[in-house]
Amino acid sequence: MKEKGLSKKKIVLFIVLGILGFVIIFAAGLPLYGNYLASKEFPQKEQVMLPPQPNGQKMLIVYQPSSNSNITEEVANKIAQGALEKGTEVKLMRPGNDANIDLKDFDIIVFGTPWYFQPSKKLIDFMQKPGDYTSKKVVLYITCGGQDDPEMFEIMVKHLEGANIVGRELFHVEKEKHEAIFKNASDLGKKIGER
Ligand SMILES: Cc1cc2nc3c(=O)[nH]c(=O)nc-3n(C[C@H](O)[C@H](O)[C@H](O)COP(=O)(O)O)c2cc1C
Repeated sequence: MKEKGLSKKKIVLFIVLGILGFVIIFAAGLPLYGNYLASKEFPQKEQVMLPPQPNGQKMLIVYQPSSNSNITEEVANKIAQGALEKGTEVKLMRPGNDANIDLKDFDIIVFGTPWYFQPSKKLIDFMQKPGDYTSKKVVLYITCGGQDDPEMFEIMVKHLEGANIVGRELFHVEKEKHEAIFKNASDLGKKIGER
């Protein structure tokens, strides 16, 4: 007699194939999503912040925002606050639509990016523009899940020929509490903003 409906074997096969399909889509889709986020351009948002007691230094913070937790933007704001406390003027901006910026106007340049299997492509484009970084303090920061690999910074450094890089900071959003991240970011701003 013929069996009615699906046999047990077929059901197991469907489930296994379903799980396999999901794993393949996830494994291929996540890097693609990462690539999409890393390439995304956001509307420009420029902000100049003047310290109460200027020390004569100017800092430029170029950071890539995101559509996720936006921790990278928060960290940029905290670095700015720390630097302001030490008397440094701060300009905050995003990469892209940045034709007016002249690096000559700044003593300290901070680059910030979230890590989506790679740094922000818009930020790398910004770094590749002609500009002399040799006479400036340059600081790099990355926000990421938990990856801890010096190679992450090397990927960025190679676009900053001759730069005097005085800081490389990793902020781990899955390992550290946000308050701790923001405190470290503010301390970083104070340290590099001090004359
Ligand atoms: C698609 C995607 C890819 C990611 N890739 C990595 C990664 O390779 N290494 C890592 O440590 N964290 C990774 N993360 C975590 C983010 O780097 C982390 O959440 C970061 O703080 C996001 O910053 P944002 O909120 O400013 O976008 C990834 C997150 C997403 C959504």
